Amino acid sequence: MNYKITTLPGDGIGPEVVYEATKVLDIIANKYDHTFNFQERLMGGCSIDKYGTSLTDETLADCKDSDAVLLGAVGGPKWDNPEAKDRPERGLLALRKGLGVFANLRPVKVHPSLINSSPLKPEKLKDVDILVIRELTGGLYFGQPKMREMRDGKQYAVDTLEYFDYEIQRIIQLAFELAKDRKKKVTSVDKANVLESSRLWRQIASNLGTANPDIQLEHTLVDTASMKLITSPASFDVIVTENMFGDILTDEASVLAGSMGMLPSASLAESTSRSDKEARVGLYEPIHGSAPDIAGQGIANPIGTILSCALMLRYSLKLEFEAQAIENAVDAVISSGAKTLDLGGKLTTRQMADEIIKNL
Ligand code: IPM
Ligand code: MG
Repeated sequence: MNYKITTLPGDGIGPEVVYEATKVLDIIANKYDHTFNFQERLMGGCSIDKYGTSLTDETLADCKDSDAVLLGAVGGPKWDNPEAKDRPERGLLALRKGLGVFANLRPVKVHPSLINSSPLKPEKLKDVDILVIRELTGGLYFGQPKMREMRDGKQYAVDTLEYFDYEIQRIIQLAFELAKDRKKKVTSVDKANVLESSRLWRQIASNLGTANPDIQLEHTLVDTASMKLITSPASFDVIVTENMFGDILTDEASVLAGSMGMLPSASLAESTSRSDKEARVGLYEPIHGSAPDIAGQGIANPIGTILSCALMLRYSLKLEFEAQAIENAVDAVISSGAKTLDLGGKLTTRQMADEIIKNL
């Protein structure tokens, strides 16, 4: 089969990790007789530099017209001016919204060989296998009003945490669906003791819990959840939560896996999220940022991006066998003790990717 994949390498280490990941996809294409047509576009700081905007209409249209989008990372000190009209991150948010990818899946697994790369006690990390499902196109990131102005001679700023029932319904529904193939437990994370949007969230989660009696549903306040992620991470299966809570909790959860560089993500739109429907464009990106401090040195960990390609094969291209081939190769390489700098090893970005390719 023929597939069109748009790559958005972005800024910092983004281009380095995306380059290695496309090498892995090329090998998969060869081995399993597919054709991946890559088209590279600018998004983020690099797009501001070239076009004066972090995401052009043309790039968004090209992404919509693809089978999948692979993103590296965006941002960096060069574009950090708080007065600037546009920021690299705005392009990413506009892309997520434009593609309608409301469900951000962030699987967190602890590989036995990496238990010592995490600062947590080894016994805490045994059997950790969490799927965080972060709502991605609503909540605090997008709610209106969102602005800054002078009020009575004082600076005033507001962000809004807003949700419609259907936005909550579809993300929690997806959590229940995905939990069915796992340990059948959903932890819905909210702040229902304080926030009205969380009370609506909890009510919808409870109703879906009643409709899905085969799944164990628990409600956990976000502050408690952040503590339990460290004290008893193995007690979680699927976590589903609001956009910003999910952003914060997944950085925390990455510590379990030994490094931010390990974690992939898949952002799915309505039709990609239903296995029985036709696949549609999804956005795939590692959860780490552009890491300007190590950019250009060829030492970034490419695994988060390579595993994101596996998720792309699974969810957008419906190539489950090929997805597992990548995951197995990464597993084998990690088991052999191969490590990049972030994991306490010496391998460069390219060497790590080449090791994975050897195991494909
Ligand atoms: C992430 C990142 C982004 C987010 C930033 C870069 C806008 O932190 O994907 O987790 O907050 O969603
Ligand atoms: Mg984040």
